[in-house]
Amino acid sequence: MPGLIPQSALDEILGRVDIVELISGYIPLKKSGRNFKAPCPFHNEKTPSFMVSPERQIYHCFGCGESGNAFKFLMKYERLEFPEAVEHLAKKAGVVLPETRPQDSTVTNLLTQLYTVNDLAVQYYASNLISSAGVGARAYLSKRGITDDSIAHCKLGLALDKWDGLITYMRQKGVTLGVLEKAGLILAKDSGGGYYDRFRGRLIFPIFDIKGRPIAFGARVLDDSLPKYINSCETPVYVKGKNLYGFHLAKDFVRDLDHVLVVEGYLDFLVPFQQGIGNIVASLGTALTSDQVRMVKRYTHNAVMIYDADQAGQMAALRSLDIFIEEEMQVRVASLPAGFDPDLFVRKYGAEGFRLLVEKAENLFDFKLRLLKGKYNADSIEGKARIASEMLSTIAKFKHAVMQSEYVKKLADVLSVNEEALWSEIKKEKKRPDSSAQSGNTAVSAGFQDNPTEKLLFKLMLEETHLIDRIRRQLDPEEFQDERISQIVSKLFDFVEQGKLIEPSSLIHYFDDECTMKFICESAIPSDVAMLDKEKVVDDCIRRLKTKNRQKRKISLQEKIKSAQDEGKDDELSRLMQEFDELLKSQN
Ligand code: GTP
Ligand code: MN
Repeated sequence: MPGLIPQSALDEILGRVDIVELISGYIPLKKSGRNFKAPCPFHNEKTPSFMVSPERQIYHCFGCGESGNAFKFLMKYERLEFPEAVEHLAKKAGVVLPETRPQDSTVTNLLTQLYTVNDLAVQYYASNLISSAGVGARAYLSKRGITDDSIAHCKLGLALDKWDGLITYMRQKGVTLGVLEKAGLILAKDSGGGYYDRFRGRLIFPIFDIKGRPIAFGARVLDDSLPKYINSCETPVYVKGKNLYGFHLAKDFVRDLDHVLVVEGYLDFLVPFQQGIGNIVASLGTALTSDQVRMVKRYTHNAVMIYDADQAGQMAALRSLDIFIEEEMQVRVASLPAGFDPDLFVRKYGAEGFRLLVEKAENLFDFKLRLLKGKYNADSIEGKARIASEMLSTIAKFKHAVMQSEYVKKLADVLSVNEEALWSEIKKEKKRPDSSAQSGNTAVSAGFQDNPTEKLLFKLMLEETHLIDRIRRQLDPEEFQDERISQIVSKLFDFVEQGKLIEPSSLIHYFDDECTMKFICESAIPSDVAMLDKEKVVDDCIRRLKTKNRQKRKISLQEKIKSAQDEGKDDELSRLMQEFDELLKSQN
């Protein structure tokens, strides 16, 4: 979470705020040994697995894995952005934040310029739509049932059928062509010399970020010509797959209703939204990305995808399902009748009909199974095998073992196959490289493969800072096989070298991936089991770790020796043999 706020200010705040007091303000905490306990506010549970450590000033939920320091708690609970959480706590703690000086003023200037230019473009397109040149477009929108209120609310507009409508307007406003080009609003002529408007003769749907700043545009033809839509290119303020259309309008509804409806198109958002379905967003025709899902996850853990009944719609729904599961969200799928999209459906059956459709949404298991049963013959052995493996590729993505095992049980039941057989398939699935390559997360948890020795060492370092130096004198960070532990340890060693003491609650700010942060918090929660001789435990762990590494190196050397021998590379062979010798000697 590195930002523009200096770490020293963050530390100052963390030092003054008590996380137990902060969290107690939101949920009742109960003392439990060295920690405080509560049912987790971030997932549904009956027995409390949410722990808050007054010593470490962090929280961690052993159920859902949510964890962090005081800032993170506020961000999560109050749905704040990082700077907002910092500001809030700074006030509480009486810490005056230094003026945030943007690190690179030319970069921020460019971003501000782009938002400003986009804003001007929104105004320009909107004014076209209400002008006399907009008669046709207004008629089109009204034919599609879009009200004037919606037009204003979503700031719809019109690009005139001219090569330089926007350019002329912007010139009057003193905007340079260079900025317009960076904003993706104009294109350079092939012939060299001069520019022309990107969007011409089209309806304009501005796309906003979550804060409501215009970042890009979608533009639809007013007839049946192709391409139906053209969009802005990516720009410094617009990265595809990182935004959802309508989310700035929907987010409060999403939070209050605690679920989000996901549709595909602009019109599929607009029509239901104006009928009072507020908790809706559009993915804009592409499969959802994990960035988009994570954005939603700050507001709700429940999603319903509403996709066309056609093949393409169902395939898109399928791909998106797995992303929700990887992000540990509950997801259901509502299927529209053939020939309908949400826009048509709402116009025909109204908001009430739409709500009923959403209520009837299938859970992902039933949905995927139904699709697969339509594709393969579930009565044949081959069909069963195909269905099983496609179902398992999704089931394997559940992070929670209980979820996984319940679904395996259910699948065994509906296919009347042996549960054991499914488990052995699921293991293969998990080993398959591409099944985890899709999501950073699965790969990340694989990085934390069980390495109890390294985990224990790391836990001890967080528990007793004087042990860090003891470990540092005997181990290099690279000797940790777990790449992430190795990274964190290397940071810890750096701090020790600089004579700095670093608390886990502050340490997490030096890593920006969620998984590493969770891992730090999980390891930092003190346990109530007393360990008498921690020095001895440390030395034992180090010995075990070194033995294990030596074993690994031995095996790898043996392999190299064998191939050097096979290939007759004598020089290399003797070098490897010597290395092997030294390794054996160092053992004693
Ligand atoms: P209408 O046809 O006006 O109802 O629009 P729609 O939004 O329902 O379109 P559709 O269901 O065909 O497509 C869903 C989404 O995919 C659209 O909202 C666009 O974001 C995107 N899309 C569709 N066609 C195109 C295209 O030709 N080019 C691009 N870039 N995107 C498209
Ligand atoms: Mn449509």
